[in-house]
Amino acid sequence: MSEQSLLHVSNLSVSVENLPILKGIDLDIKPGETHVIMGPNGAGKSTLGYTIMGNPRYSVTGGNINFDGKDITNESTDKRAKDGIFLSFQNPLEVSGISLGGFIRNAIHEKTGKPVKLFAMRKQLQNNMGLLNMDLNYADRDLNVGFSGGEKKKAEILQMLMLNPKLAILDETDSGLDVDAVRTVSEGIKEYQKKEDGALLIITHSTKILESLHVDYTHVLVKGKIVYTGDGTLVEEINEKGFERFINNEVDSSVAI
Ligand SMILES: Nc1ncnc2c1ncn2[C@@H]1O[C@H](COP(=O)(O)OP(=O)(O)OP(=O)(O)O)[C@@H](O)[C@H]1O
Ligand SMILES: [Mg+2]
Repeated sequence: MSEQSLLHVSNLSVSVENLPILKGIDLDIKPGETHVIMGPNGAGKSTLGYTIMGNPRYSVTGGNINFDGKDITNESTDKRAKDGIFLSFQNPLEVSGISLGGFIRNAIHEKTGKPVKLFAMRKQLQNNMGLLNMDLNYADRDLNVGFSGGEKKKAEILQMLMLNPKLAILDETDSGLDVDAVRTVSEGIKEYQKKEDGALLIITHSTKILESLHVDYTHVLVKGKIVYTGDGTLVEEINEKGFERFINNEVDSSVAI
């Protein structure tokens, strides 16, 4: 494992309900890098995100996950969040009884272990919601309850900006967004990229969100395996030609870089 790795996934195999989904995944993300994962529906992209975050439904049957210099393969989700991993969900849940702002405040408190300075937090919330074109009163509404699909996705990006993780995994944060919202969310991600050493793992089907973002590596995940790794330009190529050549094994499965 390289000394500078932030996330180092080694030969990771994962089963869900005894069904093998991921089959020997290797992934190395260094601080400040942006990696993109693309692949057909059902390839295992969300499974990879959930497994890195430590969702107990996903059983690691082989390999390990290192984060920030330690083995987290068996660590709880809470601990991983404290360590600095953030996952934005493909389908964010609606939670009654806690406001978006309250949820963020609790999450910051959990992460830092210190009382949250309310005035400073409100100010930061205001700035980030402004950046994401969100009305401030959404902070007082129940988390995601009645939010439109696009508003839920923006709320996820807001949480990322407020929590300031070391690694943010964004699972199809762009799906269901209108053209303006894609641009806005992209601005939010760019804001996160400005943070020193903030790393990103972006799972997406669309290339729109990536147009204005710097991408270091693109991985193609097919049937539980990373079959190809290229640079940022691979995104455009996939956009034009699709996944067929990867599914049909027409490319050398060795990494291109
Ligand atoms: N909790 C679960 N229970 C049963 N099967 C699951 C579960 N989670 C994932 N799977 C199965 O694992 C496979 C991979 O699913 P996953 O959600 O990781 O795919 P994906 O690459 O994210 O697809 P998409 O592009 O459609 O979001 C699918 O066949 C799915 O049905
Ligand atoms: Mg998915």
